[in-house]
Amino acid sequence: MFKHTTGSRRLAGQLLRLLAGATLVFGVAAANAAIKDTKHNLGASNGVNTNFMTSGTDEICVFCHTPHASNTNVKAPLWNKPVAAGSSYTTYNTATSATIDGSVDMSGVSLACLSCHDGTQAMDTMINKPGSGGYNAAGSVTGGTWSGARQDGTGKMINAGEFIAMLGTDLTNDHPVGIQYCGGGVSSGSASTSAASTGSCRDADFNAPANGLIGGARAWWVDSSLGTTNTREKTDMILYARAPTLTGDAMSGNYQPFVECASCHDPHSSNTTFLRVANTQSAVCLTCHNK
Ligand code: HEC
Ligand code: HEC
Ligand code: HEC
Ligand code: HEC
Repeated sequence: MFKHTTGSRRLAGQLLRLLAGATLVFGVAAANAAIKDTKHNLGASNGVNTNFMTSGTDEICVFCHTPHASNTNVKAPLWNKPVAAGSSYTTYNTATSATIDGSVDMSGVSLACLSCHDGTQAMDTMINKPGSGGYNAAGSVTGGTWSGARQDGTGKMINAGEFIAMLGTDLTNDHPVGIQYCGGGVSSGSASTSAASTGSCRDADFNAPANGLIGGARAWWVDSSLGTTNTREKTDMILYARAPTLTGDAMSGNYQPFVECASCHDPHSSNTTFLRVANTQSAVCLTCHNK
């Protein structure tokens, strides 16, 4: 009897663990499948983004990524689109702000977002179209028909009604991107592979970034309240390292963290407006700004 009870308990325990495991697996699977049900699904008959739909393909990732022959001129993984030069954008920095400190370098992942969101090229412009063949280094369109109210008939993004997803090339009315974090960076720099301490924020109005060597290169992020502290996760505000060459700056040439579109947004997220964390009580803003 005693044995039997133990056996049942053990069985019940195993079942519970199994169930917990299954929940975890399903939870993860649901999160991964999310992009299909977001506005970043532009393929045929997507059913969720009827303002932007092309009959050219029913694939999802191909609008942004290709497994082969990707665009290495942009710091976005396996990027499948041509991007504009950073110099084609007017940035926030050049507008009048009496308080801005950071320097702007438009060479990061924001260019990938803007390859659709500036409205200058058809959104099915791809370097490697689906299937065998279809490679064109300069990019070419799928040839499908676009439907939906917030594209211009050829697949370029336009603003209509209250929707302002098309940011244009004038970014002076947008939160700065391609900008150093911390109000001018951190106070002591570090080479990309140095394990040395990387200093603190130059401007105390910012929360200090976390950093670590990941795959031998310096990575930076700001820990949000979700997940584990000092571990980079997609629910943290991701910062993008590069070494700006700034005239007269002692830190010139050292790795510094920068803010890009994908610091605040995860293009695959199922959160409203693709935010890395929900902006409840301005949680996104307060992760970085110490206000
Ligand atoms: C609308 C454009 C877009 C679409 C569609 C898209 N991605 Fe991405 N993806 C990006 C961008 C931009 C980045 C870089 C983001 C960053 O710097 O964190 C990225 C990063 C990634 C990464 C590396 C970083 C991470 O978040 O894990 C993986 C893996 C990835 N994408 C896979 C996919 C797959 C698989 C699909 C299709 C199911 C897909 N993406 C669809 C834009 C897109
Ligand atoms: C990933 C970190 C990060 C997040 C998240 C963030 N910001 Fe910023 N913000 C910055 C940086 C870096 C600057 C540039 C500051 C500088 O160089 O002086 C900036 C600049 C600004 C400025 C202009 C400051 C000036 O001096 O002209 C305002 C206003 C602002 N942010 C508001 C917000 C709001 C509102 C949110 C939430 C919607 C937000 N920020 C989210 C990092 C962030
Ligand atoms: C392949 C083209 C494409 C690329 C690349 C792309 N987007 Fe989008 N994005 C879209 C379309 C289409 C919409 C829908 C706009 C609308 O509904 O008006 C959209 C909508 C959004 C929205 C608004 C969502 C909402 O609920 O209103 C955000 C935020 C966004 N994208 C951020 C990004 C960021 C950040 C990147 C880069 C990491 C990016 N996008 C790259 C095509 C793209
Ligand atoms: C500092 C954080 C931050 C950065 C950087 C940032 N965004 Fe956003 N973005 C937000 C927040 C927060 C919202 C939600 C605003 C709202 O709810 O009205 C948003 C909204 C949007 C929307 C939807 C606009 C609307 O009102 O319908 C688009 C599209 C978008 N972002 C694209 C981008 C692109 C492209 C970039 C880079 C050029 C970028 N964002 C950079 C924080 C950011």
